[in-house]
Amino acid sequence: MRIVFDTDSAIFNDDAAALAMLLQRRDLVDIAAITVVAGNHTVAQGSEHMLHLLEFCGVTDIPLHLGAETPLVNSVERAAEQERRWGPVSFKGAFDEAPPVRPPHGGAFAAVRPQPPEAVTALTDAINERPGEVTVVAVGPLTNIALALRRDPTLAGRMKSLVFMGGNARVPGNVTPAAEFNFWFDPEAAHEVLAAPIPRVVMFGLDITNHAPLHQARFERIVGTDTPLTRLMRESMGPRYARDPAATYYVWDCITAAWLLDPDVVTAAERLPIAVETTFGPDYGGTTVVTARERPVEVMLDLDVERFFAIYEDLLTRPVPIPR
Ligand code: RIB
Ligand code: CA
Repeated sequence: MRIVFDTDSAIFNDDAAALAMLLQRRDLVDIAAITVVAGNHTVAQGSEHMLHLLEFCGVTDIPLHLGAETPLVNSVERAAEQERRWGPVSFKGAFDEAPPVRPPHGGAFAAVRPQPPEAVTALTDAINERPGEVTVVAVGPLTNIALALRRDPTLAGRMKSLVFMGGNARVPGNVTPAAEFNFWFDPEAAHEVLAAPIPRVVMFGLDITNHAPLHQARFERIVGTDTPLTRLMRESMGPRYARDPAATYYVWDCITAAWLLDPDVVTAAERLPIAVETTFGPDYGGTTVVTARERPVEVMLDLDVERFFAIYEDLLTRPVPIPR
């Protein structure tokens, strides 16, 4: 399976963990490129976390490309206005992040650097080089994908599929009562991408990801295997469990990664027409299941939690650098 991994990054949970899982199975997944988009972090900051991960894993042959710095319409100002008028947005990611770019965990910038061209061109090139073969795995806001489709709407038909983490079909949002973070950060991009004639679109929204919180016992078991990667995991995720042993982490993007490696982790899915709210109001970025007006999406709804965590645990405790 040839993929482009489009990410809004994280220090470890969850974009980086998802990428680490896929890097451990390069026998199954051929990663043509990593493209970074603003979301959890700015592109400048997020790409440093991903480059650091690549260095940890000893991976020097997968290029990372810098993508959209801002959503299509949403903005710092708009987010502030939303909060003023309709109440808090619990996480605003890159909108709350100011320069300078901080070195990743470990204190030093990675030697491996971003590559030209920028992400939208890199994504387009990867699809055009192998028409009908490339799956775009998007685990951040869909801005880069929307921009690629705006530049060339025929690109949709040359993609094999789009597999994304975002949205919430039948459950509440996680940053506002209505909206999930990736869709809230760039609702217009989500709307445009879901309307495009991509042959197959698979949604991992909160409906499925809510089923698999990571509790302390499992976390401690994973970081009990000492590798540079589990040390990074302990540093970045451990403090929350130390403060509150009953705390949980959601591992959203990792579920998407696990399904690419083992589709049987998903136990329930439905084809549903999903609409994204792009009217600026309290429900901005929220998703609803509508009647046949929109193109249906394969919405993943439930998973075999133990099967998923077995994959997660196995791949994140394997040695790094990854032997090739
Ligand atoms: O709402 C969860 C999503 O937002 C995940 O992809 C997380 O990494 C953030 O991007
Ligand atoms: Ca993400």
